[in-house]
Amino acid sequence: MATYIVLLGPPGVGKGTQASRLSQQTGLAHISSGDLFRENLKNQTELGKLAQTYMSKGNLVPDDVTIAMIKDRLGRADCAAGAILDGFPRTPAQADALETMLRDFNGQVNAVPFISAPQEVLVERLGDRWTCRASGHIFNEKSNPPKELGVCDFDGSELYQRDDDKAETVKRRIEVYMEQTTPLITHYRDHGKLIEINGLQSIEQVTHSLMDALKNRS
Ligand code: AP5
Ligand code: MG
Repeated sequence: MATYIVLLGPPGVGKGTQASRLSQQTGLAHISSGDLFRENLKNQTELGKLAQTYMSKGNLVPDDVTIAMIKDRLGRADCAAGAILDGFPRTPAQADALETMLRDFNGQVNAVPFISAPQEVLVERLGDRWTCRASGHIFNEKSNPPKELGVCDFDGSELYQRDDDKAETVKRRIEVYMEQTTPLITHYRDHGKLIEINGLQSIEQVTHSLMDALKNRS
């Protein structure tokens, strides 16, 4: 049976950073809804252009297109053993759709690590974040700096600051998270899937906590 891990948590808490590290350690594919939308935008697809009208304001892209995009992605060969989901689901409707689609893929949500940190920490982390243009590798000028300023350690591409990391958009993204995504905390807790992780630890310590907690869950 395939294994699916959903990383839950507010903007800037470290979902992408940890999903990438967990993917390396477990061999499961890292599926980030935000990265998929950004890739579509880079390729100027209709989906990318549509998503951008929501993302630039810090709002969620509508459920129907988001669910269709994830279903398509999870159906590809590299997800046969399962996946680490980063940024999906983000609404109760997406969580329901995920359960249904995973039944088709012979699986279910095995565990939902919920990483948390206070709002002021999130705002600071996002203000200091630099993202790689080619593949979305994530750096932070304070906590996780690249070896060379403005250059990705992994592929040498340019590092940029995401448009939606502007202070006012970050504020809106956090509001949207509080309104639309926090109901999932109760949902997954009620289903016995939630694992609470302290996101204030160092990047390495968070990975250690995650791996430790996941050992008995998958
Ligand atoms: P998305 O790209 O998913 O953004 P997000 O959820 O707002 O989260 P971020 O990517 O900003 O943060 P993160 O938790 O991944 O943190 P990171 O590891 O980078 O979504 C963007 C937009 O797309 C949404 O607003 C929406 O419009 C749309 N969208 C996406 N999914 C959708 C969905 N399901 N439905 C509808 N719309 C959707 O870390 C942040 C920084 O902190 C980095 O600099 C990192 O180096 C640093 N850092 C990480 N961990 C630590 C640590 N432990 N200590 C110190 N620094 C750390
Ligand atoms: Mg992310």
